Amino acid sequence: MTSEPNQTFSVRPEAPADYAAIHTLVTAAFGREDEAKLVRLLRNDADAYVPDLTLVAEEAGEIIGHIMLTNAMLQGEEDWRVLALGPLSVTPERQRTGAGIALTEAALELADARGEPLVVLLGHPAYYPRFGFEPARGRGITPPSEEMPDPAFMVKVLSNYEERYRGRFEYAPAFDQV
Ligand SMILES: CC(C)(COP(=O)(O)OP(=O)(O)OC[C@H]1O[C@@H](n2cnc3c(N)ncnc32)[C@H](O)[C@@H]1OP(=O)(O)O)[C@@H](O)C(=O)NCCC(=O)NCCS
Repeated sequence: MTSEPNQTFSVRPEAPADYAAIHTLVTAAFGREDEAKLVRLLRNDADAYVPDLTLVAEEAGEIIGHIMLTNAMLQGEEDWRVLALGPLSVTPERQRTGAGIALTEAALELADARGEPLVVLLGHPAYYPRFGFEPARGRGITPPSEEMPDPAFMVKVLSNYEERYRGRFEYAPAFDQV
């Protein structure tokens, strides 16, 4: 995986030895335990978990960031397996130093290289457009719940995207369990 020349951290897939540190980091990033529990539930769901697309940023032996892309469904004229992004977490002391961007770019690059068609997320509308995320409804992709505000429900289309990939997006079941 590539790193910027003056970047002080490296990005790599998570490993079992990282799980405890990731739990602490995700809890600290969100200021509550829900997202850390979600990470654990997703990891334990073999249909959802994609180990190659679950990455950490490591600096001097410490895990400072974590990102997960998991399997999800798009239900339209057919059911297509697509990806969901999240949670994305950077430890509070190291936020705004590029780790979130590096993790997101690395995960999206790997997803594209695997031939995945698209990635959906619910997130900050000011943060994700820099990676090519756009409002999902504009591509005919609707959220699983009407409570999800339009600007925050976004999609990034990858090289293997086709226009017929339209329909209702469904996260892995773990997202409803926290
Ligand atoms: C959101 C988060 C992942 C960003 O990661 P980060 O490593 O702090 O951010 P980076 O250094 O990679 O990126 C910095 C850029 O992102 C912007 N940014 C950071 N956090 C942001 C936020 N919450 N909303 C909008 N923009 C944000 C910065 O303004 C900066 O933009 P600029 O370069 O135009 O000035 C991180 O702050 C975090 O873990 N937050 C708490 C958990 C969370 O909200 N996760 C995302 C859920 S969608």
